[in-house]
Amino acid sequence: RIAGPSGLVIFGVTGDLSRKKLMPAVYDLANRGLLPPGFSLVGFARRDWEHEDFAQVVHDSVKEHARTPFREEVWKQLSQGMRFVPGVFDDDEAFRTLKSTIEELDKSRGTGGNFAFYLSVPPKFFPTVVSQLKKHGLSESAEGSWRRAVIEKPFGHDLPSAQKLNAIVHDVFHPDQVFRIDHYLGKETVQNILALRFANTMFEPLWNRSYVDHVQITMAEDIGIGGRAGYYDGIGSARDVIQNHLLQLLALTAMEEPASFGAKALLTEKLKVLNAVRLPRELGKHTVRGQYAAGWQGGEKVRGYLQEEGIDPKSNTDTFAAMRLEIDNRRWAGVPFYLRTGKRLGRRVTEIAVVFQRAPHSPFDATDTQELGQNALVIRVQPDEGITIRFGSKVPGTQMEIRDVTMDFAYGESFTESSPEAYERLLLDVLLGDANLFPRHQEVERSWEILDPVEHYWDKHGKPEQYAAGTWGPQGADEMLARDGRSWRRP
Ligand code: BG6
Repeated sequence: RIAGPSGLVIFGVTGDLSRKKLMPAVYDLANRGLLPPGFSLVGFARRDWEHEDFAQVVHDSVKEHARTPFREEVWKQLSQGMRFVPGVFDDDEAFRTLKSTIEELDKSRGTGGNFAFYLSVPPKFFPTVVSQLKKHGLSESAEGSWRRAVIEKPFGHDLPSAQKLNAIVHDVFHPDQVFRIDHYLGKETVQNILALRFANTMFEPLWNRSYVDHVQITMAEDIGIGGRAGYYDGIGSARDVIQNHLLQLLALTAMEEPASFGAKALLTEKLKVLNAVRLPRELGKHTVRGQYAAGWQGGEKVRGYLQEEGIDPKSNTDTFAAMRLEIDNRRWAGVPFYLRTGKRLGRRVTEIAVVFQRAPHSPFDATDTQELGQNALVIRVQPDEGITIRFGSKVPGTQMEIRDVTMDFAYGESFTESSPEAYERLLLDVLLGDANLFPRHQEVERSWEILDPVEHYWDKHGKPEQYAAGTWGPQGADEMLARDGRSWRRP
């Protein structure tokens, strides 16, 4: 899987994402030999830079963030294809320069007219950028070549805004030309959910309401909001993470087997299961939001959300969100899916835990099994990527005592191959035109449709509950599960 002749244009090239993820990913792909020799990278931003200044910025970012070692010959080849276009988004002159730059690269580097436009810009600029691409004839390709648009979240902040954005983008690009990034889908362990379920026989027979008690999907972070106040305040954790990453994880965990591992077949199944997702009626009982207060993390005192720079001290933004979802279909009826995410929690961990029902009958004495929990299969998305199965086993000795043990698969121990960074894989897929790992607009809109009632409920009822930084979130989250006779895992 090596990309054919092509180039990438990044709008918003001076941003964090570009510096920390996109530029290093381009270099790593080149270093792994997955880009064509004439691959070209064009930066577009409001800076007074020459091509060399831009190349230097990419150089520094690669040195700092790339995963693969720096090799002079790879860098030389790549940097010869770097161009910078200075300008603001509504500047026609800048777009004319962009057009001539692309034509020049087609001639000098053999990019073949194949370009992806990466909109690493806040959504308020989408309309201007895409309409400029259209106006200057950049969104359409000549016969035999392609043009694609790559867009970063947030894809709106609720259903109406997402629909509006999609309409704007689709006015210029055909849906098949649009690649929406959900970087969780680029993670090795996330793709392995489908391998685990559908390349094996031993899990799928248990993967349903007859055996599963409930599913917990956790995405916990230890970091606070860092320098992202401007984006985060007023958006919050549910919109930032549940609407996209966690609902995608839910879809992959709960969907039926797709007819193939192709974009259309995956979309069909993901959408089908998302359409079957239902919110509980009593949102006050089955959803919880929290906000971190000052606390301790990694031996350091950290401030609360309301004291963070750039945050409205009266902000009601959630930095923790948990909710119970149901899936109304034959496979999952009655099995709750609990989703939770938060910043400044105990540690950084993302996992999907499929928790099984207790044995319907036990021939052992209750005292023999008092330390026995429920069987569980845990997909550890990150860190310590792997899968753990928990089950009961007899404790060695003369007594019949049964206790939980685990069986573990760790990527690091089973494979010598290293996995590419999520953005590397996704960028390569864009260049290859492989849309499997990109959520379609229908999924994005459906996910907002699921979340919107929760956000509306929260807007009208109370405030987020405070939790000390470094803990596992507000007490309300524990109470929410306790009411269902369950408890959260402490990964
Ligand atoms: C992003 C969110 O999508 O994912 C961030 O906007 C979050 O708030 C990040 O920190 C987490 O990504 P990862 O790959 O570090 O789990």
